Amino acid sequence: MVSRPHGGRLISRVASESRRERVLAEVSEFQRIGVDVEKAFEIENIAKGVYSPLEGFMLSEDLRSCLDEMRLPSGVPWTMPVLLDLSEDQAKQLAEGDEVMIFLKGIPLATMEIEEIYTYDREKLIEAVFGTKDERHPGVRKARGMRDFFVGGRITLLNSVPNPYERYTLWPKETRVLFKEKGWRTVVGFQTRNAPHRGHEAIQKTALAIVDGLFVNPVIGRKKPGDFRDDVILEAYRVLIENYYPRDTAVLAILRYEMRYAGPREAVHHAIMRKNFGCTHFIVGRDHAGIGNFYPPYAAQEIFKKFPDLGITPFFFREFFYCRKCEGLVNEKTCPHPESYRIRFSGTAIRKLIMEGKSPPPEVMRPEIAEVILSFEDPFVR
Ligand code: ADX
Repeated sequence: MVSRPHGGRLISRVASESRRERVLAEVSEFQRIGVDVEKAFEIENIAKGVYSPLEGFMLSEDLRSCLDEMRLPSGVPWTMPVLLDLSEDQAKQLAEGDEVMIFLKGIPLATMEIEEIYTYDREKLIEAVFGTKDERHPGVRKARGMRDFFVGGRITLLNSVPNPYERYTLWPKETRVLFKEKGWRTVVGFQTRNAPHRGHEAIQKTALAIVDGLFVNPVIGRKKPGDFRDDVILEAYRVLIENYYPRDTAVLAILRYEMRYAGPREAVHHAIMRKNFGCTHFIVGRDHAGIGNFYPPYAAQEIFKKFPDLGITPFFFREFFYCRKCEGLVNEKTCPHPESYRIRFSGTAIRKLIMEGKSPPPEVMRPEIAEVILSFEDPFVR
């Protein structure tokens, strides 16, 4: 019994074969909007139901409601803006009511019915989403680079975005069937942008001790320099699951999505996407989707109090660490020993060791995983 899609119905905005053929035969008659691959991922996520109940890019009322209420005008929880931005020149050439063709590097990706062309106070948006206007925050920097006009309206997908990771790709329609076939009544979703350290494994397995299945769903797509590369994350998880998870307890599939590092708001968005994949539970650990010290470590857990109607149950975890006295992975709820016994998982420390060609200690990262990472010439995003 997988969870119901967010908003009640799994959205599909994929063109039927006949419509696709008809539209593609008339490509030259459409006005064009070009998008980059990150925006193309959003279009595909909308079309394939990952963003249900959204059917397209937000209208001004959706955006206002998302920023002010953290809900869509219908009342359904929704915390992150989903916007298509255009320059003034582009916007001037379009009119509400037009149907336009969205291109990704020469590929006709989708059509869009333009319902509204509008502007919005960008700094207000940034403050609401990120809780900061600090230029050092990569999400803030990216949002500040948006163009001045937004177009809202439904999209219809014509072609898929080229995907080097087909074998790790599952869409909500597919995971929902798969979870059912496996007989899982409860499935916990795990969001990550990292190769797994033992803290990640510990929270997944603690959750897995309670539910039927685990959906490991790493984010693939543009990240900040210093984050692990996509192929490294996938290979590391493949090896971890093959060697350390009981057969048929974990499904590994990618989510093509650009991290915003928006902490609490993004955590809720992460949960909503996994609900659409069919997860009944979602893991939120320490500093989920955070960056630097922009968010208090458990702010991404606190925010869930505002959404008793989310329709997916968050599993909250205090920080896991290795305790030399307990000789195992524990957290402050299960270990009474002082700090001097504790080995914490610092992404920065792990990165530093790997850059030097060294394996992190086995308490921090399994040697097999370190080996996978070190087998890549350059495991980090530049
Ligand atoms: S994130 O940006 O995707 O959140 P990361 O891949 O490191 O970053 O984390 C994935 C999930 O694991 C998040 O829910 C995060 O809070 C959790 N997490 C990471 N490290 C720990 C830890 N040591 N203890 C508890 N939770 C953790």
